[in-house]
Amino acid sequence: MTALLTTSALTVRFGGVIAVNNVSIEIQPKRLYGLIGPNGSGKSTLLGAISRLTKSTEGTMTFRQSDYTALPAFKVAHMGIARTFQTVRLLPSLSVIDNVMLGADFRHFGSSIFAPWLVPGWSTARERAVRNAAENAIVRLGIEEYKEIKPDVLPYGIQRRVEIARALAGGPDLLLLDEPTAGMTKTEREEIGALLRRLCDEGLTQILVDHDVGLVVDVCDEVYVMNSGSILAQGVPADVVQRADVQEAYLGKRHR
Ligand SMILES: Nc1ncnc2c1ncn2[C@@H]1O[C@H](COP(=O)(O)OP(=O)(O)OP(=O)(O)O)[C@@H](O)[C@H]1O
Ligand SMILES: [Mg+2]
Repeated sequence: MTALLTTSALTVRFGGVIAVNNVSIEIQPKRLYGLIGPNGSGKSTLLGAISRLTKSTEGTMTFRQSDYTALPAFKVAHMGIARTFQTVRLLPSLSVIDNVMLGADFRHFGSSIFAPWLVPGWSTARERAVRNAAENAIVRLGIEEYKEIKPDVLPYGIQRRVEIARALAGGPDLLLLDEPTAGMTKTEREEIGALLRRLCDEGLTQILVDHDVGLVVDVCDEVYVMNSGSILAQGVPADVVQRADVQEAYLGKRHR
């Protein structure tokens, strides 16, 4: 199978810190990947490098077999790579639907900061397309009832759903999720896990960073484990998490 995304000897340095060290991964299409590892092991930085919001220092990346190592982040979004962030980053002055519409618009029309539907009375084919995409994403995330509300008054779990909807609304080919279930209850986490699994079964390739190892084992097809910036292990989640070196690094104790 041809990989959708590859990184080859990818390295990210922040001054003297090597946050991502010589990482080579292959992401096959229509699969859900877990990316786990202890705090500070480089997971968010790797997602940042893949989305080009963080500059890589060495190595290369391809998407659909084309090298995009030097592309600016907005062009990477246009190519079809979307992400959510570890902390909620929604625009507090806009309603949920407008936040999600910005995500849809960014993918398809993105280099402009002008969102025409925010101007009263302005209605265009572009707005209709964007609104449709946003409405669909909102339904998928089960947040229709919050559509007209500003996100900062909503419970944290709902805000996280809005972020996923925003990333989804652009119709990405690869979705990078940085701890989307952080701060959620167990039931909410299971719901998000089931949703991500469903999206994958419908053909969406995803990389999921999550500290809930049980969730990753339950929903992911494959897992990469990072430790100190490097890939420590890769494979079938249920097998990989049993490995002694993974347990030692990730859980901080040796498998007994
Ligand atoms: N902008 C930055 N400047 C300097 N160092 C950074 C920066 N971002 C991350 N780091 C460092 O890079 C390393 C990897 O951090 P990163 O946030 O990628 O880890 P992580 O695996 O996502 O951790 P967590 O599970 O806590 O989210 C850490 O040592 C961190 O302190
Ligand atoms: Mg992180």
